[in-house]
Amino acid sequence: MSSNLKGKNIVLGITGSIAAYKAAEIVRLLKERGAFVYPVMTKCATFFVHPTTFQTLSQQKVGIDLFEKDDISLKHISLSELADIILIAPATANIIGKIASGIADDLITTTVMAARSPVVIAPAMNERMYHNSIVKENISRLKSLGYKFIGPEVGRLASGAKGEGRMVSPRLIVDSLEKIFTSRKDLEGKSFIVTAGPTREPLDYVRFISNRSSGKMGFAIAEEARDRGAKIILISGPTLISPPEGVEFYSVETAKDMMEKVKEWFEKVDGLIMASAVSDFRPVEVKKGKIKKADKDKIVVKMVKNPDILEEMGKVKGEKILVGFCAETEDIVRYAKEKLIRKNLDFIVANNISFPGAGFGTDTNQVVILDRQGRIESLPIMSKREVASKIWDRVKELLNRKKTS
Ligand SMILES: Cc1cc2nc3c(=O)[nH]c(=O)nc-3n(C[C@H](O)[C@H](O)[C@H](O)COP(=O)(O)O)c2cc1C
Repeated sequence: MSSNLKGKNIVLGITGSIAAYKAAEIVRLLKERGAFVYPVMTKCATFFVHPTTFQTLSQQKVGIDLFEKDDISLKHISLSELADIILIAPATANIIGKIASGIADDLITTTVMAARSPVVIAPAMNERMYHNSIVKENISRLKSLGYKFIGPEVGRLASGAKGEGRMVSPRLIVDSLEKIFTSRKDLEGKSFIVTAGPTREPLDYVRFISNRSSGKMGFAIAEEARDRGAKIILISGPTLISPPEGVEFYSVETAKDMMEKVKEWFEKVDGLIMASAVSDFRPVEVKKGKIKKADKDKIVVKMVKNPDILEEMGKVKGEKILVGFCAETEDIVRYAKEKLIRKNLDFIVANNISFPGAGFGTDTNQVVILDRQGRIESLPIMSKREVASKIWDRVKELLNRKKTS
């Protein structure tokens, strides 16, 4: 049987749990499936299993010290660069807490902090430790940031008692990694425009009116589609975060600039997903130079409505897929339904920006998806990348439907 793990570089972090002996079996199974395994141990882990076991099974030197005698190198960077996946199994309450708090004081935590690959964590601990509210909070935080967890399960623990906290079996861990590598290229051959970020509407040469959009949601949508094989034209207003690699990126400033760029590409793509927060209004007049405060107690800025990009594209949409976002603070479903119809969208993603962990600037979102068939799907709070994945699943569904009709 051919394995998705063949030729993959797996950095395996082993920490100070009695379950460390099970990591030897993980190395064996990964090697059996053709992966390269790079073991890294915490100092505590070496009290449980000797590094020689992992060195022999993996045929790689085991990383333990950041500052190893005779070998001071940037091991944490090189390991994070070569890793296709970082697996921490077993993961102690301690390592989970350190990662969740941004601590990087050993070879595993520094490698995780520099990671570009997915990080998968298989916790192992006593039931009372696992149910400790700080541990629970750390796990939820890491999940919301996109870290993947496998287990733990209920079973016989090291103390002899039965409870929740046992690391899941090495085979299940390796099978889960196998699934992560089953990369879906289900958007191959398709191209989409994604818009992100805020727009800026100038008042004079130095000032502008804008909003709190960070661009994170739109960038996550672009990244997800890129990884699933789509060609992405990402058009973004000014943001503080770097645009993803592997997409065609255009930086724009005003709603009108964004509109022009969208129009330029619209004919050539299969659809448009607008996750940008476009200013509804712009100042009628952009004052030359800088508005002076001397001899004025107040100023009145007259604003005019900006073009509604989605609504305009909705009029010429044809067979293309059109997806919008709306940010509301109340009566979300009612407002979202109205926009879905008025703008001729296939579906709309509504978020309640007054909800903690949803909307502007956060790494998570909590959305409701409404479509033209009347389906209303309320999703739990999840990372923006996970929301992006749900959105593309819907787009894929629509593409399939169009193919068969
Ligand atoms: C015999 C023994 C077994 C332990 N088992 C666990 C465990 O399964 N899970 C856990 O979170 N901590 C366990 N601990 C506590 C950790 O070893 C301790 O928190 C340590 O600081 C973890 O360091 P590390 O995360 O750098 O490996 C155990 C300690 C001892 C002495």
